[in-house]
Amino acid sequence: MDRRTFLKAGGAGTFLAAAGLAWAQTRSNPLPIFPLNDVTGGFDERIQLNLNAAAHDFGSGAASKTLGINSNYLGQVLRVKQGQTLPFDVVNGIGEVTTIHWHGLHIPGDVDGGPHQEIEPGHTWAPDVPIRQNAATTWFHSHMHGKTAEQVYKGLAGLMLIEDDASMSADLPQTYGVDDFTIVLQDKVFDDDGTMSYFLNGETFEDGFLGDTLVINGTIAPAVQNVPSGLIRLRILNACNARFLTLKMAHGPLTVIASDGGFLASAVETEDLIISPGERYEVLVDMSTLETNSLTVASFPGYGRLFRLLAQFINEQIPETSVLTLSRTGEKGFTGSMPRRLANLSPARADEAKVTREFTLNMGESDELATLAANWGNFCGEGMGMGINGQPMKMDRIDQRARLGQTELWKIAAEEEIHPFHVHGCSFRILRQESHDTVSYAQGWKDMVPVQNGKAEILVRFDHEAPDHAPYMYHCHILEHEDCGMMGQFTVS
Ligand code: C2O
Ligand code: CU
Ligand code: CU
Repeated sequence: MDRRTFLKAGGAGTFLAAAGLAWAQTRSNPLPIFPLNDVTGGFDERIQLNLNAAAHDFGSGAASKTLGINSNYLGQVLRVKQGQTLPFDVVNGIGEVTTIHWHGLHIPGDVDGGPHQEIEPGHTWAPDVPIRQNAATTWFHSHMHGKTAEQVYKGLAGLMLIEDDASMSADLPQTYGVDDFTIVLQDKVFDDDGTMSYFLNGETFEDGFLGDTLVINGTIAPAVQNVPSGLIRLRILNACNARFLTLKMAHGPLTVIASDGGFLASAVETEDLIISPGERYEVLVDMSTLETNSLTVASFPGYGRLFRLLAQFINEQIPETSVLTLSRTGEKGFTGSMPRRLANLSPARADEAKVTREFTLNMGESDELATLAANWGNFCGEGMGMGINGQPMKMDRIDQRARLGQTELWKIAAEEEIHPFHVHGCSFRILRQESHDTVSYAQGWKDMVPVQNGKAEILVRFDHEAPDHAPYMYHCHILEHEDCGMMGQFTVS
């Protein structure tokens, strides 16, 4: 069997395809810049989010059926400010039931937009969302149980940049679309006719849906962007359904300044940055001397049975693909220097925890798990089941009850594979990961932690209430795993 046949036989789980077998572009598209809806200066009316069924050309020359938020694919970027209460009108025009969850926001359960806050087609959901937390790059997306993976894949997601007084006066690049870019990375499969496709089978449930073509801000990678000289800020979201990505620059390091929940204590230089589905990192790239530099992406090598098998079979490095080339113009841009101190972050102290909870993420073909998952309305492949502590998600069961304002230690383990674990309603600190100390760029505020071998330990605290009828979720952010039941619910009171 030659390599190509083997890759084809492998189905979707073949990132190598991005190196030339799938819809890799031979020339670069301009980087799409999402329209900005900046309400930091205030707003006169309710903020309208229209969820649309639409069509979008990813650069393949064909129109794909997509979903979008005030847009044909993905959303506008919302820029908001700490202290505001945002009056949203979320209008469901997609023709099927959905929800919109505010991922990374510290807000009460009844406006969190989880699976209990369904919006029927043609209806409007009108939550008032209080922004009390510090500056952070957050996002919002469908959380319709059993449909999350498909709806997000089709484009039902957008970004919210939270600012505060400190971030707006910080000596950092912050001119949107000039030296401050919002980057959404996804992997897709395109059919021979160039239309985007999504399909589920045993493998796509087990590994999550893995595409063979990288897409950046809704266009097939690579993309190119002209930038002024100086520091350039990239706010990066991994919005893949299931794929972990390793980010690098072609020249020089990445300087990480923020993670999911806001600024790090000080800037962290790294050669490579692993970003899991659902995670956000903000990085600075120095474009004061280089003519061009490229953001490159490789697939995280540890993930997926098929991927490991393939890597072994062809005995080859996982290819790095350039996704974004920054090209310096003659203009002078942000003239400040690389920051050192960014925020006051107290050390995460495990001894403050009043309660310890343990979670084990389960997946497999055991009849019990599969039967329970199916009976409780989870969406799984045939004979597949997923759960946490032996229990697939059940909409009318509360799994944990947390006390308002109390610090807790959560220990999370996985039976197999790697899972990006997410908790609603808070930001947390990672104490340990894989039985090691936390990597330096993940020591700040997070709402995601990858769990693989060994326990991950996080320190959480909830400052808002989540009642029985509107509980928070904790779950794996591989969206097919979430839909299949690797999710639980908790209240805060
Ligand atoms: Cu981004 Cu519960 O999800
Ligand atoms: Cu969330
Ligand atoms: Cu998972």
